[in-house]
Amino acid sequence: MYIVIRKFQPSDHEAVRALFRDGMQEHIIPSFTHAITQPLHITVTLCFFTVGYILGGGSVVLALLAGGLWIGLLYYCCYEHYAGYARSKLNTDMRDIAGFYLSRPDNYFWVAEAKINSRPQIMGIVAVEGKELPDSGQKYGELFRMSVSSTSRRTGLGWRLGQTVINFCKERGFSKIVLQTTSKQSAAVALYYKMGFKPVRTHKQAPWWGLRLVGVSILRMEKILQAFDGM
Ligand SMILES: CC(C)(COP(=O)(O)OP(=O)(O)OC[C@H]1O[C@@H](n2cnc3c(N)ncnc32)[C@H](O)[C@@H]1OP(=O)(O)O)[C@@H](O)C(=O)NCCC(=O)NCCS
Repeated sequence: MYIVIRKFQPSDHEAVRALFRDGMQEHIIPSFTHAITQPLHITVTLCFFTVGYILGGGSVVLALLAGGLWIGLLYYCCYEHYAGYARSKLNTDMRDIAGFYLSRPDNYFWVAEAKINSRPQIMGIVAVEGKELPDSGQKYGELFRMSVSSTSRRTGLGWRLGQTVINFCKERGFSKIVLQTTSKQSAAVALYYKMGFKPVRTHKQAPWWGLRLVGVSILRMEKILQAFDGM
């Protein structure tokens, strides 16, 4: 399939938002599955069952309700992290993509488009925001919104989108590219490692108690760039 990477256009708006939202929400179930199969959470769930059973005077229904409460809390934490993140971004930079990413020279938003049955379809997205280090004034880029449609995965599209960001940042003389992901986004982490990103700080303790509860850590990575030589 021939896929072209081009600048975002306003007509892409809904497809781009849906791709971003789906790419985030697909991590909810794997994170939840991982969380409930951890020995600690199995033990806590059993404790809730037991306490519910005892306090309910031997009621199996109350035992199930108590256990379900804990499992529900774990699901809520996974859901709220990924769906909540998507929701908050859909209400900020992704609400007016052109306004946020295309009105400033150091920001950009790309889409990967394929023609399927002669109809254009968005298969991938990625964005960059140019920033400045407060102490040195050095410019760098932050990579955002990397997502590839599930039908186009493992074909090198994520790599191509990442390289597009790297080239953009090199052309602007940015000193580095940074990004943030989570330990549970294993495909993204593998892709970034392959592209030469290195972890700079792993919060053993995630910033939100809900993430700590389900054992997800935030991973910050960066890639140092050579100065652009015009070649
Ligand atoms: C992360 C993502 C963008 C990767 O896109 P992709 O087009 O499938 O990636 P590529 O085909 O370019 O893969 C490049 C390399 O990344 C690594 N990689 C990608 N997906 C992988 C997976 N599922 N498991 C292990 N390694 C993987 C491999 O090293 C791969 O090279 P290889 O195929 O030669 O082994 C895609 O999985 C996705 O959209 N995920 C959901 C959204 C998301 O989590 N985005 C990240 C936000 S921080």
